[in-house]
Amino acid sequence: MCGIVGYIGRHQATPFLLEGLSKLEYRGYDSAGIAVYHDGKIDVEKCVGRLDALRQKLIGHEPVGTVGIGHTRWATHGKPSDINAHPHVDDTGMFAVVHNGIIENYMPLKQELVKKGHHFKSQTDTEVVPHLMAEYYNGDFEATVRKVLSIIKGSYSLVFLCAKEPDKIICAKKNNPLVIGLGKGENYIASDIPAIISKTRDTYILADGEMAIVMADSVRVTDLNGKPVDKKVFRVTWDAEAAEKGGFEHFMLKEIYEQPKCVRDTLRGRLSRENDEISLPELNWTPDFLKKLRKIFIVACGTAYHAGIVGKYYIEKMARIPVEVDIASEFRYRDPIIDDSCLCIVISQSGETSDTLEALKEAKRRGAATMAVTNVVGSSIAREADQVIYTYAGPEIAVASTKAYTTQLIIMLILSLYISKLLGKIEDKRLHDLIQGILRIPEQMHEILENVDPIKVFAANYASCEDAFFLGRSLDYAVALEGALKLKEISYIHAEAYAAGELKHGTLALIEEGVPVIVLATQPHVYDKTISNLQEVKSRGAIVIGIGMQGDKELAKHANSVITIPQADEELAPILAVIPLQLLAYYAALARGCDVDKPRNLAKSVTVE
Ligand code: M6R
Repeated sequence: MCGIVGYIGRHQATPFLLEGLSKLEYRGYDSAGIAVYHDGKIDVEKCVGRLDALRQKLIGHEPVGTVGIGHTRWATHGKPSDINAHPHVDDTGMFAVVHNGIIENYMPLKQELVKKGHHFKSQTDTEVVPHLMAEYYNGDFEATVRKVLSIIKGSYSLVFLCAKEPDKIICAKKNNPLVIGLGKGENYIASDIPAIISKTRDTYILADGEMAIVMADSVRVTDLNGKPVDKKVFRVTWDAEAAEKGGFEHFMLKEIYEQPKCVRDTLRGRLSRENDEISLPELNWTPDFLKKLRKIFIVACGTAYHAGIVGKYYIEKMARIPVEVDIASEFRYRDPIIDDSCLCIVISQSGETSDTLEALKEAKRRGAATMAVTNVVGSSIAREADQVIYTYAGPEIAVASTKAYTTQLIIMLILSLYISKLLGKIEDKRLHDLIQGILRIPEQMHEILENVDPIKVFAANYASCEDAFFLGRSLDYAVALEGALKLKEISYIHAEAYAAGELKHGTLALIEEGVPVIVLATQPHVYDKTISNLQEVKSRGAIVIGIGMQGDKELAKHANSVITIPQADEELAPILAVIPLQLLAYYAALARGCDVDKPRNLAKSVTVE
């Protein structure tokens, strides 16, 4: 997610804009820029790289003026570059705009504006906004913002500056955060509280569908029709460090709670509720290309590898193409049988994992078509792959991957649907049901996140154990692998995941009185068998916590305690079932006093072999 700041008042804007942006640096970004009004003109300065690069650029000609906006960009549409950095302006330079989020319908809007004579410089979705402002401006800044907001679709926090009406900044919000900081004779705007906390603790937190007309001495909040909204002042009591985490104790917890939004963002524009369309314009695959594929390889590391295992189940089950999943560090050295009859999909949150990048290069060298699923636009992996599909999880700061995983699963799922539809392998009714189910996931995630007490209790009771086991069959096994990795990574409890049917081939010997075993039972076609495996461990003294669907009375009869997820199609269950496991790991680590966000010996991005 990008960072936004704005200032209007009696002081110079630039120092606050730079300071405010620096307070948002922890969120990750690839370019930065500011726009400051002075003497009838808006001066825009921006560049790719860190804020320091922008500071260097400004030496000797720092924009002068008491009204300005600033932005740190986390690329979504268009690679990180000077041109793609925000603020964006229209052809005349009358409007400057910064934006967080995604303008879904930017393509048709851009085409229309180009026909009308507008010149676009960047590859971003955002640039349509200042051009739309210029197109519709009728001498009333506020009315024009409303008009433009009625045209654009998607998610946004948007901040507008107008050279003709420099006594105000206008901002609006939909599905992206925006805060107004209330000062005396000056006011502030930010996408997040840390940017303004050193200036004021009195804020208006904008709600979806609200816009604010921010002047030096006043702030007026309205709905999108101009009806005044009576806002209550929210007094921030957090310290600066807590503010960075949005009031959560750790980034990991914040990121776990961000998952509904990240899934929504990743789905945006890709699935249609109305006509069951799947839109992945990033891919130029034809049925012919897919029919000729002998095999698909999915290659990744760690959590992304676990997402790959789920992807294998999806693609094989729905599209009936054989899939091999590889750990990147093994793939690159094992002389894999891969050639131009194969497709290699690599998955990587950071897009910089050295083993995954090298595996991708190896697959290319051997002639395979390549595709990357990554969260970082312009990353090395994104640049190297033939095609890229982005997850829109925003920057993931905690070392333990959470929101990246669930958005990777979403991509693997819609990719499988896309392939099976192109190949005519999926019935319309099944496709319809799955699409409707996928669109319900963010709400269902909320539901899980609102009921975490049983997870906290279990974590507290078993935080002192030395070993834990995770069991499941089919897709539940794939989720078990991720649950075990999360637990060992941040709580340092030794955790193993097993295909439930495999236990009796050796590992059952480790089950003794009091060992916690987490059994996932969300897959109807293997449900009875999973329950039998559960009984095998329970009868040997294990304390069993079952993860099942709401209304599952059978599981409650056998497990010591049960955590439920909302009813969902078995294909969708992993995307929900992993959340209790993430929380379990989090609360166990917390109880053990571990450094949750920065576990020992680990780095967020592994750029060495
Ligand atoms: O950035 P990547 O997705 O390529 O990273 C891969 C792994 O290093 C990563 O998923 C790691 O396993 C996580 N720390 C697990 O939580």
